[in-house]
Amino acid sequence: MINLKNKVAVVTGASSGLGADAARAYAQFGANVAILARRKEKLEKLSDELKNNFEVEVLAAGCDVTDENQVKLAIEQIVSKFGKIDILLNNAGVAVRGGVHQLSVEDWDKSFNTNVKGIFLTSKYVVPYMIKQNYGKIVNISSVNAHIADKSDVFIRHGYNSSKSAILGLTLGMACSYGKYNITVNTVCPGLFESEMTENTLFKSNEFLDFYNTNCPMSRPGRKGELSGTVLYLSSDLSSYVTGQSIIIDGGMSLI
Ligand SMILES: NC(=O)c1ccc[n+]([C@@H]2O[C@H](COP(=O)([O-])OP(=O)(O)OC[C@H]3O[C@@H](n4cnc5c(N)ncnc54)[C@H](O)[C@@H]3O)[C@@H](O)[C@H]2O)c1
Repeated sequence: MINLKNKVAVVTGASSGLGADAARAYAQFGANVAILARRKEKLEKLSDELKNNFEVEVLAAGCDVTDENQVKLAIEQIVSKFGKIDILLNNAGVAVRGGVHQLSVEDWDKSFNTNVKGIFLTSKYVVPYMIKQNYGKIVNISSVNAHIADKSDVFIRHGYNSSKSAILGLTLGMACSYGKYNITVNTVCPGLFESEMTENTLFKSNEFLDFYNTNCPMSRPGRKGELSGTVLYLSSDLSSYVTGQSIIIDGGMSLI
């Protein structure tokens, strides 16, 4: 039932992990995809993969989401190639470890610059096009830790968690302001998934994995592809009357 044919989807932080998976899912369902990230070689590889596997057009653009000029240029490039932007997946993120007693100001700023200011900047340049076309689907990737504290002491991340909570507030405000332009804005909050961000940290700690699996009703982390269904739903017209929502994808971990 999901059909993204002729839609244009932009994915930030698309060079790895959940962003690359989402770009594959968009292409699989027919969308032309603009993949943005800092690592150009990885983007080119993904671009080739998408073009070889699906009949879609792909634009790969180097873009640091914390840099206003780079974001502005990338969005202009996308609109000049495709003429519009229907879907914006704000996925780029960094996880800096530490509690407030351990974090430097630079660590704190890094979390907020990437995870919150990045979404502000991409939205700042994409929303005007969406308003003009009276259509838009914005999906912001937050985290289950926007809703619940790190209950395990193994990996506390106060800057990361609070930046992910800020995304919820931004989503509510944007959903309220832009609903009249037929733009929906929602948040997806993943639990634990294997990716570059987690493979050498959370997935390397038996203590953390034991903690997660014991506290997760489904007794396991998320599997590859298990986030994409919700991202696709919120990016498609199946969710045409859903806005300002936050959906947690964590096998029920946050219930306990
Ligand atoms: N994997 C998990 O368990 C998990 C859980 C909760 C939330 N998340 C969120 O999911 C999103 C994707 O993370 P992932 O798990 O796939 O990890 P990942 O490290 O594979 O992906 C994050 C991507 O963002 C990119 N990025 C970072 N800073 C950037 C910047 N300034 N400009 C452009 N790109 C930048 C990275 O290069 C990377 O490609 C992140 O927002 C993360 O916080 C992941």
